[in-house]
This record gives sequence, structure tokens and C-alpha cells, in this order.
Amino acid sequence: MLGSLLTLIGLYSLACWLYENFRTPVLLVVKGIQQLVQANRHSLSQKYGPWAVITGGSDGIGKGYAHFLAGQGMKVALVARNESKLKKVAEEIRNKHGVETKVVVADFSKGEAVFDHLEKELVSLDIGILVNNVGVINEKPIRLERMEKRLLWNLINVNIGAATLLCRILIPAMKQRKRGLIINISSLSSLAPTPYLTVYAATKAYMTSFSVGLREELLPFGVECQTVSPGYVRTSMTEYFASAEGQESSLSKRVVNVADMIRYAGFTISKTDSTTGHWSHGFQTGVLNALPPSLRLRMFSKLYTQLLEEYSDDKQKQL
Ligand SMILES: NC(=O)c1ccc[n+]([C@@H]2O[C@H](COP(=O)([O-])OP(=O)(O)OC[C@H]3O[C@@H](n4cnc5c(N)ncnc54)[C@H](OP(=O)(O)O)[C@@H]3O)[C@@H](O)[C@H]2O)c1
Repeated sequence: MLGSLLTLIGLYSLACWLYENFRTPVLLVVKGIQQLVQANRHSLSQKYGPWAVITGGSDGIGKGYAHFLAGQGMKVALVARNESKLKKVAEEIRNKHGVETKVVVADFSKGEAVFDHLEKELVSLDIGILVNNVGVINEKPIRLERMEKRLLWNLINVNIGAATLLCRILIPAMKQRKRGLIINISSLSSLAPTPYLTVYAATKAYMTSFSVGLREELLPFGVECQTVSPGYVRTSMTEYFASAEGQESSLSKRVVNVADMIRYAGFTISKTDSTTGHWSHGFQTGVLNALPPSLRLRMFSKLYTQLLEEYSDDKQKQL
């Protein structure tokens, strides 16, 4: 009796794990084959609309998405703070892909005011894809009480506020046109609370929850929503992994390049509503998902306590 009950629980847990972790790869294969044999295949701009807006599009993952979408024939609007960097990336994209570009200078850390400016700049465009990519992180693992108040404010406004308010601004037109795709960049950090990266991980848990909830809201209106939850990608955000001595830190070996991530994440667009953005991150997520939440928390706790020690200055170690 007890044996049968344990077998049932085991089978049920295995079925849940298989569903959660193999749904995306199975969908990718099925939709990939479907799209391959379809006689009249639609380009991304035909399916969703001609313009793609990418927040944080002047660097790292956002710049990768901008190049990928422009390579698919989409016009791209890049949003970030540094105008000369934005113009340089826009020029690079025009020269390489021959598509129209637009740059919008905006600082999401400034709060609500910036969204009036963004609405004026963006609402007249026929936007097919919105990539909510912008994000900031504390430079290295750090205790909450040692963080600058400004950084805490920025983490909340940039990582959460930007995506939420931009969706509010751009969704009405997408719903009216009955087409569109919102890509929300979350993170593997959303899988468990992460001490010393506490606020960043919490903003990413928000992004996953927000994205999945929004997906359900938009489903009846023909607008899609995809959640992307990558592990470590080599960008300016992850520079701190390179230790002062130039030796590889305990995490740096697991970091993937933007080009590799975008090749995989780009392939998943219009095929799946969630992805880790790279197969190796899918593997890491699968392993983490096999652990109960309390054990996952212990693992993250141990790893980031070790990183806190690796990156702390002497003063911080004494606290
Ligand atoms: N890299 C990773 O390992 C990793 C892993 C998982 C998830 N993610 C997520 O992926 C996203 C992109 O990360 P990334 O590594 O590509 O970052 P990144 O290389 O640091 O690029 C950040 C981009 O955002 C812009 N930006 C920063 N602060 C801004 C602000 N206040 N207002 C407007 N734009 C701002 C930057 O341009 P300006 O400085 O000119 O404004 C830049 O274009 C983030 O949401 C991050 O959380 C990253």
C-alpha cells in the first residue's frame, strides 16, 4: 500500500518535471517542423508588425536582439540612455541589415516622467515586437544594507517599472491590430531567492510572474508574450566574474556569449512562450527544477555566500 502510494507520488512528480522542462524543447521541434513545411511562411514583420522596440538595445543581450530582429527584416527602435552609443549601434544595424532604425534616449531610472516622452516617440509606430530587455544589477554580490539607495531605486524602476509601463503604453495598439509579441527578459535568478543579489533576483521573479500573467491576459486578443530566463551571458553586466587577478571565478566558466544565446533565443521566437534563451541554461534550469524550493534556496545561498566572500573587500568581510 505504502509502496504503491510512493510509486504514484514518484510518477506524478516525474510527470510534472517532464512537462515543465520538456514542454519548450518539444514545442520548438514541433513548431520548427510545422514552419519548415508551411507553404506560405510569414516573416516576423508580416506576422507581428514592421517595428521592433528594444529597451537597453545599445549593448549586450538587447543589442543582440536588435541585430537578430533587423536581420529578419524588422525596423528597429533602440531605447537607452547614452545617445552616441545608441546612434553607433543604429548605424551598425542600418549598414549590416539595410533596415530603418530609430533611437530614443530615455533613462528609466528617472521614474514616471520618462514614459510621456516614450509614448510620444513610440505610439505612432506600428510596433510588432517589444523586447523588454533593459536591466541593471549590483556590480557584485553585496549585503542589502551596504547598497546605495540610488542603486536600489534603479533596480526597481529599471528592471520592473520599464517593462510594466511600456506594456501599458504599447499594448492597446497591439490589441487593436490583433497582433504583436512582447518578449520579457527575466533570468534564471528568478528560480529562487538569491541572498546578496536579493533585490535583483526579486525583480526577475516579478518579471516572470508579470510575463506569464500578461500572456494569459493577451491570449484572447491575438497578442503573444514570451518569457526569456537566461543563465549567465557574457555582457558588461557579468564583467565582475573576471577576478582582479584575471583568474576564472567559480561562475565564469558557465557564461555563454551573446551571439550563441541570441541564435538560440531568436529561433524560439513565435515558437514557444517561454525559454531560457540557450540550451545549456535549459539544462541548468532543469536540474534546479528537480530540487525542492528549500534545497534550491540552500544552493543559491551557499553559492552567493561564497561569491560574497570572493568579491568582498576586507571591510565588508568584517561586518
Ligand atoms: N548578462 C546576463 O548574464 C544576464 C542573465 C540573465 C538575464 N539578464 C537580463 O538581460 C537584460 C540585459 O542584460 P545585459 O547583460 O545585456 O546588460 P548590459 O550589457 O549591461 O546592457 C544594458 C543595456 O541597458 C541600457 N540601460 C542601462 N540602464 C538604463 C537606464 N537606466 N535607462 C535606459 N537604459 C538603460 C544600457 O545602455 P545605457 O547604459 O546607454 O543606458 C544597455 O543598452 C537585463 O534585463 C538582465 O537582467 C542578463
